[in-house]
Amino acid sequence: MTSETDFLIIGSGIAGLSCALKLSQFGSVALVTKKHKAESNTNYAQGGIASVFDPGDSYVQHTQDTLTAGAGLCHQDAVRLIVEEGPTRVKELFELGVRFTKTKEGRFDLGIEGGHRAHRIVHVKDHTGKDVETALLEAVKQEPNIHVHEHHAAIDLITEHQVFYPHPPSQAQLHCWGAYVLDSNEGIVKKFLAKATIIATGGCGQVYLHSTNPKIATGDGVAICYRAGAPIANMEFMQFHPTTLFHPEANSFLISEAVRGFGAVLVNKKGESFMEKYHEMASLAPRDIVARSIDTEMKKTGDLCVYLDISHKDPAQVKDRFPLIYENCLRYKIDITKEPIPVVPAAHYACGGVVTDLKGRTSIKGLFACGEVAFTGVHGANRLASNSLLEALVFAHHASLEASEFVRDVHPDFQVIPRWDDSGTFNNEEWVLIAHDALEIKNLMWDYVGIVRSNLRLERALSRIRLIRHEVENYYRRTRVTEGIIELRNLAVVAQLIIQSALLRKESRGLHYTTDYPQKNDELFLQDTIIQRADF
Ligand code: FAD
Ligand code: SIN
Repeated sequence: MTSETDFLIIGSGIAGLSCALKLSQFGSVALVTKKHKAESNTNYAQGGIASVFDPGDSYVQHTQDTLTAGAGLCHQDAVRLIVEEGPTRVKELFELGVRFTKTKEGRFDLGIEGGHRAHRIVHVKDHTGKDVETALLEAVKQEPNIHVHEHHAAIDLITEHQVFYPHPPSQAQLHCWGAYVLDSNEGIVKKFLAKATIIATGGCGQVYLHSTNPKIATGDGVAICYRAGAPIANMEFMQFHPTTLFHPEANSFLISEAVRGFGAVLVNKKGESFMEKYHEMASLAPRDIVARSIDTEMKKTGDLCVYLDISHKDPAQVKDRFPLIYENCLRYKIDITKEPIPVVPAAHYACGGVVTDLKGRTSIKGLFACGEVAFTGVHGANRLASNSLLEALVFAHHASLEASEFVRDVHPDFQVIPRWDDSGTFNNEEWVLIAHDALEIKNLMWDYVGIVRSNLRLERALSRIRLIRHEVENYYRRTRVTEGIIELRNLAVVAQLIIQSALLRKESRGLHYTTDYPQKNDELFLQDTIIQRADF
C-alpha cells in the first residue's frame, strides 16, 4: 500500500502534532506514530514550559540562565529564538484550550526549577504534558487535511539510496521522499511518499536501564537519519534527571523539579541537606550538578537512594499543586506530605540529535526535524529545565513555515521509488533474542556510559556495542521486519553514537563527566561533537 501526501510527519508528541496543525493549512498531511497516538514523552511532562511572563523577568535573564546551564556550548541565535518567541507559542497553546494554572489574580502561576533565576514555568499543576497532548490531539482531530496512522512505525527514510541502490549520489545531493513504514497491526510495510518529511520522533531514554521515558523513546529518528547520512551532534550529552522515585515497581516515575521549586530539599538518610556542599543554588542548582552530586553522595555513603523532603510544607497546598505525584507516591505507600520521598537519578533527555538549522532543515533536502530528536544548538552541554517543550513548539513552528515553502517547487516522480523488498527474509519468533539484546544494551549503557564515565568503561562499552550491532544488523537483514527488531536496531545505533561521542570529548563539561579528564578544556573542546556515517 502507498500513501501520497504533501507532508509526512513521523511522531505524535508536541513537535509532530504542532507541525501537523500548522502544515494542514498548506496541504495534505500524513502523520504516522508507532503506538497509540497519545503515547509520547510529551504526555508525561510534568513541570511545564519555561517562558518569560513575569514582569520582573526578562528575555536576557532567560537567555543567560539557558547559556549558563549549557556550559559554553549553546548556540546563542537558537537560544534567543526560543526565548523571544516563547510567549507567543505558549499563548497559541492556551488558545487551543490548554488551561494553564493561574493565580487568584488571573495571571499564569509561574513555577521555578533548577538553574532558573526567576519564576517562569507555565504549567497545568503537575500534569502539563498530558493537557498539552490532549489539546493538540483534539485540534488535530478537527482538521480534515490530517490523517493520523496509529501503530505505524517508520523503518527508514526513502532517499536516492533506495532509488539508485547500490550507487547513490553524494550526500550533498540527497533528497528525502518519505519513509518505509511498518503497519504493526497488519504486519506489512507501506510506502509513505511525501514532498517534505518531518521527523518528530522524540528522545532515546530507553537506551538506558533506568529512564523516565516511556517505551516509545528508542531513538528511532536519530538512528534513521544517521543511516540516511545526516550529521548527528552532541550525543554524549545525555541528561539524567536527579529525582525519580526509588521503588522497584515505580518504573523511574518522575518527581518533578517543580517540587524543589516549591521548597523541597534533597537530604541524605540522616535527614541532612547536602546540596549546599556542591552549589550555591543548593537543591535548585542546574540538573547536571544535582544529578552528579546525588551520585557522589550515594557512592560515598553506599546508600541506594537519597531523599526529597517536602513534608515541611502545607499538606493541602502540596496536594493541590502536585496531585499526580501525590497520588502516585501514595500508591507505593509514600505520603509525600508526611515523609521524605526516596529518589535516584535516571536517564531523561537527549541534548544531542539530528543537526538542524534555525528553520528545522537537516542536511538532506526535504527532510526536517524538530522536538527532542533534533539538535538545534539550544541546550549546549546541559538543558535548562522546561526548555524542551518550549524548543519543540518554537522549532515546529519554523520547520512548518520552511516545509510549506519548500514543497511549492518540488515535483517528485514517485513512480521510480521501489516497494519494500523483503524477499529472502523469514518469520522469526525468537523474541527472546530481541529482549536479551535490548537488555544487554540498556545494562551496558547504565553501567559504563552513565553519569560518571572513564576511558576504560567507554572503550569496553564500544567494543561490546560493535558486536551487538553486528549481530542485530545480521538478524535484521534475514528477518521479516517487526516493531521489536526496528527498535532494537535503532537502540544499538543510538548507543554506539552516544559512546563514540563520549570518547571524542576528552574533557568534562555539562552532562559529560569523565574521571580521565575531570576539567573543562575550552581550547580544544568548545565545539559540538558531530558524527556522520563514514561511507558518505
Ligand atoms: P515525543 O513527545 O516523545 O513524541 C515522539 C513521538 O514519536 C511519539 O508519538 C512516538 O510514538 C513517535 N515515534 C517514535 N519513533 C517512531 C517511529 N519509528 N515511527 C513512528 N513514530 C515514532 N520537558 C519540558 O520542557 N518540561 C517538562 O516539564 C518536562 N517533563 C518531562 C517529564 C518526563 C517524565 C519526560 C519523559 C520528559 C519531560 N520533558 C519535559 C521532556 C519533554 O517532555 C520532551 O522532550 C518532549 O515532550 C519531546 O517532544 P517530542 O514531540 O519531540 O517527542
Ligand atoms: C520536571 O518536571 O522536572 C521535568 C522538567 C524537564 O524535564 O524539563
